[in-house]
Amino acid sequence: MTTVSTTDFKHPQVYLNNDKNSFAYTSSRDRWPHILTGVIDDVHKTIAETAEGEKRDELKKVLEQITALKHDVEHDKPLKELPNVADDIPVYNRLLKENPTSWLQGGWVFVECYLYRELQVYFDQTKNWKSYDIFSRQKEDAFKASSAGVAELATRYKALAEQLDGVTEEAPLKELFKEFSDISLWGNATDLSLLTTMSLEEIKNLQGADVRKKNEEKILVNHIENAWEVLYADSKQNDGSRVDIILDNAGFELYADLSLVLFLLDSKLAKNVILHPKNIPWFVSDVLPIDLVKTINYLKDSDFFPEGREQIDYFVSKLQGYLDDGSLSVRTSAFWTTPHFFWDIYPQGVDGGSQVWEDLKDSALVILKGDLNYRKLTCDAEWPRDTSFHTALGPLGVHDVHILSFRTCKADVVVGLKPGQDKQLEKEWVEQGNSNPLSWCWSGKYAVIEFNDGKKQ
Ligand code: F6P
Ligand code: MG
Repeated sequence: MTTVSTTDFKHPQVYLNNDKNSFAYTSSRDRWPHILTGVIDDVHKTIAETAEGEKRDELKKVLEQITALKHDVEHDKPLKELPNVADDIPVYNRLLKENPTSWLQGGWVFVECYLYRELQVYFDQTKNWKSYDIFSRQKEDAFKASSAGVAELATRYKALAEQLDGVTEEAPLKELFKEFSDISLWGNATDLSLLTTMSLEEIKNLQGADVRKKNEEKILVNHIENAWEVLYADSKQNDGSRVDIILDNAGFELYADLSLVLFLLDSKLAKNVILHPKNIPWFVSDVLPIDLVKTINYLKDSDFFPEGREQIDYFVSKLQGYLDDGSLSVRTSAFWTTPHFFWDIYPQGVDGGSQVWEDLKDSALVILKGDLNYRKLTCDAEWPRDTSFHTALGPLGVHDVHILSFRTCKADVVVGLKPGQDKQLEKEWVEQGNSNPLSWCWSGKYAVIEFNDGKKQ
């Protein structure tokens, strides 16, 4: 057992890159080189588009650095101290010094965060490319390929929004909250870091109402009713609540999250919603502040999305209205791109954890999207799968933050199942023709919606 920053809480061993039974093993050996090849291709393209001179030379140097990094990853070289080019770098260097490791051996979350931070260091060191997003092309292509799902969801949203006007009874609001939560949950099935080998056509087939309906039984734990009770009571008491969303991926997932935002604001359940994106390109498809601006521009562009214009225009005008009147806003923190688990979000949390806690404790509902956020909530540790979500949250679980996680399962850690349920899932997974009984939990085919009210139990 590993001890964490507060003595009362302990978590099991974290998943390691050298554990052959864990998805960490293939992730670090197969997916990371694949992702880095994509990054190299992207930089090549941008070099070709850039005129001779200092700008181009800087990018050529970056290309050499990324190529060397890929070699280091594939050959399991030790992680190196990062040059001190930004305020968050000392955290990485300190944690590495405490636990030196190599690319294919260390803790999966720590090393993967390191990978994305190191990539950004190369750009931080340039004069002209500090805010370059190596994943921007992929994000744009995938969102464009989602046009059928975008039009379908805009149509659904418009029909519901028109009926919602003046509705105050609990029952219909609750049903709609569940529906938009589901939309936001399954939006997470289409992140680009896991779907490295899936075609845009296949990604498109993951979106849409029919698929969501069919997938209901794939939600292994569903605490949405508990989250509703807390939100509804708070909203009544305060004449509309504050809701926060710790975002995950850009593209269709962000768009799905925005439909939930619109519902919360239209229904007046929320009087303000705060979105929390990342500061640097992260795990391929994560939202940067600029992605929100780009998303709005894509939605407004009839060449980008030619179908369903009336409905998409309606969607985007509502969104723009809420941004303009301040009820929808964006807040960044460097904490989200540290390698820290969210066990450090509590009053004494280090490296920005206490400030994040100070902020989030005032929210009626903090929705954390996606797989990486879930892994960070639960320390990506080898918990027995019937451990409660409350226990797996450690210090964060008892410090008054209302946590609601929407996560499609793309990694080993899963908590909150019934005793024996994981063994049953392994059996069914093999019966469905899969060779590895363990891979159900990282296939992206299952999901969990888990809630904790932050009170001591
Ligand atoms: O499981 C593959 C993976 O890239 C993990 O490394 C990471 O946790 C996850 O996918 C990213 O998924 P999400 O975008 O849902 O956080
Ligand atoms: Mg992501």
